Amino acid sequence: MRQVLFLCSSARPQGNARLLAERAAAGLGQDVGQDWIDLAALPLPAFHDCRPHGHPPEGALATVWQAMALSTDIVFVAPVYWYALPAPAKLLLDHWSGWLDAPGMGFADRMRGKRLWLITARADPDPTVVAPIEAMLHRAATWLNMAWGGALHGIGDAAGDVLTDADTLSRAPGFFTL
Ligand SMILES: Cc1cc2nc3c(=O)[nH]c(=O)nc-3n(C[C@H](O)[C@H](O)[C@H](O)COP(=O)(O)O)c2cc1C
Repeated sequence: MRQVLFLCSSARPQGNARLLAERAAAGLGQDVGQDWIDLAALPLPAFHDCRPHGHPPEGALATVWQAMALSTDIVFVAPVYWYALPAPAKLLLDHWSGWLDAPGMGFADRMRGKRLWLITARADPDPTVVAPIEAMLHRAATWLNMAWGGALHGIGDAAGDVLTDADTLSRAPGFFTL
């Protein structure tokens, strides 16, 4: 069964990226499971590079990992912050590097074959603004032997603005179609 995990990272709840992701999620079939985690609301610890002595996640990180392990599809739902991912999303990615060396976790094996997606919101309509984020996540997926699902980029600045981005909204319901 398909299980889609949405990892939200905006510094405001119900922001544009999440609104767009909810429109895309509405296009998933009834037989597809959904899980939503707000990374910005979790007490994610700082990443300490202890490689090659990684250790399995605890606390809030364990919650995220359990949801990731159960998922077939992982979606980063992110506003563009300074041409990059918001800090909570980037922090989670850094923790993935530690998990690669955690004994008994099987992180690389568990990630292989999952599908990675990206949904963004940004103020600047220039389409090249999202190129660095999309390239970074796409390359990360390839490096982890994950499949790249694709990206959906909405435009808006104030919360709710993305609901006026008619072109992107029209593509949202079919975004997750395989
Ligand atoms: C810290 C910060 C940095 C931002 N940097 C950019 C940027 O580099 N490019 C851009 O187009 N918009 C930028 N924005 C605007 C947001 O991407 C925009 O308001 C977006 O709709 C926020 O999405 P959200 O409602 O899901 O949080 C920035 C906003 C904040 C708060």
